[in-house]
Amino acid sequence: MPTNESTVTIHMVSSLDGFVCKPDGDVAWLETSDRYEAGIADEDAIAFLGTVDCFVLGARTYETALKLGWPYSDVPVIVLTTSNMPADRASVQFLSGDLAGLVRERLRPRYKNIWVVGGPTLVRDFLRMGLADEVRVTIAPVIIGGGLPFFDRTEVESALHLKDVTAYKSGMVELSYVVRTD
Ligand SMILES: NC(=O)c1ccc[n+]([C@@H]2O[C@H](COP(=O)([O-])OP(=O)(O)OC[C@H]3O[C@@H](n4cnc5c(N)ncnc54)[C@H](OP(=O)(O)O)[C@@H]3O)[C@@H](O)[C@H]2O)c1
Repeated sequence: MPTNESTVTIHMVSSLDGFVCKPDGDVAWLETSDRYEAGIADEDAIAFLGTVDCFVLGARTYETALKLGWPYSDVPVIVLTTSNMPADRASVQFLSGDLAGLVRERLRPRYKNIWVVGGPTLVRDFLRMGLADEVRVTIAPVIIGGGLPFFDRTEVESALHLKDVTAYKSGMVELSYVVRTD
C-alpha cells in the first residue's frame, strides 16, 4: 500500500516484443509514424506528465536523457548512481545506498506522484524489493527484434490489477496496473 498517500509508478516505453532499447541503446523507434484514428490525442499523455512530482532514473538512463534532450523539464529528478556524475541542473540530485531506505525516507515523505522511468536495472530492483505501487507500460507499434528487456529477470512474481488501458492516435497503447498486495 502507498504510504503518506504517495504512489511509486514504474513507467517505460516498450516495443511489442518487450524491449526498451536496441542492443546498441538506440531508441529512435520510439518515434512512431503509425496512425490509429480511434485513439486519443498523444498530447493528453504529455499533459498527464505534468502531474508527476519526481522522476527517478538509473545512471545510464540519465546519460541517455542528457544526450537525446532533457524530457523532464524542471521537475525534480533523482539519479541513482555510485559514480561522481556532473551536476549541471538544479533539478537533479544524485543518490545511492539502500534503495528501500531512500524510497521510504527521502522520496515518499517529499513527493506524492513518483515515477521510476528506468532503465530495466532499476525497474528490476524496485520490483524485487516490492517498492512499486503501479506499473505503466506504453507499447509502441513496432517489433525491434532484440535489446534490453523491460522486465529483466525480476525473479519475483508480482500479481497485478489492470487499472486502465489507453490507446493513442500514434498507435501507442498504455497499460496501467496496480501492484496487488492482497
Ligand atoms: N524505452 C524506455 O522507455 C526507456 C526508459 C529508460 C531507459 N531506457 C534505456 O535503457 C538503457 C539503460 O538501462 P539500464 O538498465 O542499462 O541502466 P539504468 O537502470 O538506467 O542505470 C543502471 C545504473 O544506475 C545505477 N544504479 C542503479 N540502481 C542503483 C542504486 N540502488 N544505487 C546506486 N546506483 C544505482 C548504477 O550506476 P553506477 O554504476 O553509476 O552506480 C547502475 O549501473 C538506456 O539505453 C536507455 O535508453 C529506455
